[in-house]
Amino acid sequence: MEVVRSSSVALPKPQTSVLALPPTPPATASHSRDVSSDSDSDTEREVRGSRNAPSPVKSTAYPLPPKSRPDTTVLPEDLKTPDRHVPRDSRLIRLTGIHPFNTEAPLSELYNEGFLTSKDLHFVRNHGHVPNVEDDEVLNWEFSIEGMVEQPIKLTLADLLKDFDQVTYPITLVCAGNRRKEQNVVRKTKGFSWGAAGLSTALWTGVVIGDLLKRAIPKRGARYVCFEGADKLPNGYYGTSVKLNWAMDPNRGILVAHKMNGETLHPDHGKPLRVVVPGQIGGRSVKWLKKITVTAAPSDNWYHIYDNRVLPTMVDPEMSANLPETWKDERYAIYDLNTNSATCYPEHGEKVSTAGAANSYAVRGYAYAGGGKRVTRVEITLNKGKTWLLANIAYPEDEYRQAPDDDTLYGGRLDVSWRESCFCWCFWHLDIPIDSLAQADDIMVRAMDESMMVQPRDMYWSVLGMLNNPWFRVVIHKEAHELRFEHPTQPALMPGGWMERVKKAGGNLSNGFWGESVKGEETTATEQEPAIEICLVNKEVKRIITIEELRQHGGETEPWFVINGEVYDGTQYLEGHPGGATSIFGAAGQDASEEFFGYSENAKAMMPDYHIGTLDEVSRAILSSGEVASTDATDNEEARPIFLQSKLWTKAILSAKTRLSSDTKIFTFDLEHPSQTAGLPVGKHLMMRLRDPVTREAIIRSYTPISDINGQGKLHVLVKIYYDTPECKGGRMTQALDSIPIGHFVDFKGPTGRFEYLGRGMCSIGATQRKVKRFIMICGGSGITPIFQVLRAVMKDSEDPTRCLVLDGNRTEEDILLRAEIDDLKTGNEHKLTLLHTLSQPEASWTGPRGRIDARLLEKEVGPYAEPGSDDLVLICGPAPMEKSVHAILGKLGWKDEDLMFF
Ligand code: MTE
Repeated sequence: MEVVRSSSVALPKPQTSVLALPPTPPATASHSRDVSSDSDSDTEREVRGSRNAPSPVKSTAYPLPPKSRPDTTVLPEDLKTPDRHVPRDSRLIRLTGIHPFNTEAPLSELYNEGFLTSKDLHFVRNHGHVPNVEDDEVLNWEFSIEGMVEQPIKLTLADLLKDFDQVTYPITLVCAGNRRKEQNVVRKTKGFSWGAAGLSTALWTGVVIGDLLKRAIPKRGARYVCFEGADKLPNGYYGTSVKLNWAMDPNRGILVAHKMNGETLHPDHGKPLRVVVPGQIGGRSVKWLKKITVTAAPSDNWYHIYDNRVLPTMVDPEMSANLPETWKDERYAIYDLNTNSATCYPEHGEKVSTAGAANSYAVRGYAYAGGGKRVTRVEITLNKGKTWLLANIAYPEDEYRQAPDDDTLYGGRLDVSWRESCFCWCFWHLDIPIDSLAQADDIMVRAMDESMMVQPRDMYWSVLGMLNNPWFRVVIHKEAHELRFEHPTQPALMPGGWMERVKKAGGNLSNGFWGESVKGEETTATEQEPAIEICLVNKEVKRIITIEELRQHGGETEPWFVINGEVYDGTQYLEGHPGGATSIFGAAGQDASEEFFGYSENAKAMMPDYHIGTLDEVSRAILSSGEVASTDATDNEEARPIFLQSKLWTKAILSAKTRLSSDTKIFTFDLEHPSQTAGLPVGKHLMMRLRDPVTREAIIRSYTPISDINGQGKLHVLVKIYYDTPECKGGRMTQALDSIPIGHFVDFKGPTGRFEYLGRGMCSIGATQRKVKRFIMICGGSGITPIFQVLRAVMKDSEDPTRCLVLDGNRTEEDILLRAEIDDLKTGNEHKLTLLHTLSQPEASWTGPRGRIDARLLEKEVGPYAEPGSDDLVLICGPAPMEKSVHAILGKLGWKDEDLMFF
């Protein structure tokens, strides 16, 4: 591809540009100033007084941060999360719901702030809660340097300030997930959707890590430096590692920092101490630093292994779950950033008049490279890469190189001029004639770094969706006298962007033409069924309800619960609820929106009858965030004898997957401690909750584990996985579960269900008890699991006289689940167990019944309803069409609904 100069475009200015800010942003404000007038902070004066000579008067100007807002208010949505102590800026876009806090600024606001980002708009990536460190604890914050060192050290922040040289560097942090939404639109990755503002630049003050390590003296054979934070997460404390030789190299500029833009670190950014690794992905810059360990091998921290990697592109989410060795392969770990760029102006949705006074438009954005490399070229194409225009680049970072190295800022030496490395983003701009824009379909930008690595045209999709850096494409729509610009995506779940639009229209985003139709290529659009909206509220109800009122109904009398901000009284629903009264009590006083999502249309249609009012705004925010907070396992350190809780989600770690057949696996979860029991009575179910990795939407389903109710420490759940096929979409829950790697957690809550087997023929259904002499158990596929619990309880008790007839329907012999376990139960129980497997697609050799569980089979094996007093109870569990047909057939045979129990 040829590089041409546009006649209207000048060559880029020299890179020591005096421009300290993005060129011609809409809101320009200069933060450059004369350093001699710097009124230093307390720490700066302190350090100058001790180790650093006072700065001579200088006239150098370099960018200073925009003024940040005072940290006074905690947002209402954060109040009931573990981050209730963290004041935040409401302009930040939350990418993973309310908690944990993962946010980016609107792209143009980030750009408008200029070279340095205030703490208010700096992106945040928190895996869990923010440790709470009060101001008066900051100086006593202790961290250690240990492992393969001659002299392990424990230091406080006060020691760090007193005993070590302080430096201040401008550094751009970039999350490895920056621009991931684009990957998610092409194909869902396991990461949430960052837009193009997952990066920010600040002045970081602290101690060069090499100085600290020299004090501890690494031993021979040491090669890595591991960092660990104070945030305890479901898989341990957050931690990672970098190479020791990088840490010892002043060119790399790795810091242990205690100030950001001259202020004590904000809690979201690591208050009081963090690591900052310039030129590498943000994931290596551990916040709330507690431990530095020198080792011979890379970190074995869960987050080092299962986060921040680019696995080979053919590894999809399902495969990745079963490839522990691939995850551990250090070749796939990301350290240095790759070269990237994005357009900030024109903004997404911006309109430019073609009939106005302006002849040209200044297209502009940012670029960065990794590992200290410099961006040496930024190019724009208006014709999909046939020809290119050279953009102007401004490197505000160079302004700091003009200052003498002993110049201090915020108590730290700038120490920048000698270093060749680039630690920061740069800005590019190009004036393009409006006529040229009007003739083009899109504007695309790519950057090149000093090693001539240029951004690729095509996306390299990978399972975690990291380091996404194809050419950034802004589409130009021609409207009456106007051009309208469309970015590729919008962050989080925000709709918009050409990628979603093209995909919805059936375009193949991987076709090398940005999904535009190519001659001879078929479209893949699938018609979506129109969603049927069921009204859940009674429009007559006008009452406004507060959180306090709701909380008063959090018990077992008049249980109220909330769905999408509307309040319902569950009292009338206690008997009729398919999940039993326990489900209502479990939801009492809480937000049940997530669980409700899986309700049947019938259940939804009943909701207006129970609707009693609407929660007020503040209560809504408190409630939704409170629900999440209550699930935080790190809050609850006590060893509880029973795992399941009816009102709280509790985490269990996935410890094994055992394949039973091509689509069925037993998922084994480790409970909180080895002697804990699940707490699930026979016949009841539990709810399992996962989050969709992209949308963060909760996926909740009911399951009955197959493990013995008295079993300790483990939970075994048999799941049939409904994989996507070319013809039809598979199961959301089962595929999401299958893609979870070993060591990851899943949330559980329960028990639920109306039915319980009490033993020796006694059952309880809702509030009533009844005696059963014979169970007729009709099931299909994985519907065997709740049936199996009851069957096992009956068969294992030699004193239990109850008889059981099991009719199990499957397609093929391979599909019969728990066959060996059920056959085992039969041994010695032949007098009380009759077992029939019927197959709808059997092999020729199959000698058992053939066909579905249909009228013929039910008439023959179950027969007409016997007189009352026969004490038969039918338990039915299987796919919805099967349950429906069995219901109808038994109805015709005279069976009453009260003798049928659908799980
Ligand atoms: N350190 C700790 N202790 N816990 C974390 O969750 N997130 C990492 C890193 N350090 C994280 C952490 C990731 S993935 C990124 S991108 C950066 O912090 C983000 O830094 P910021 O939130 O200050 O922008």
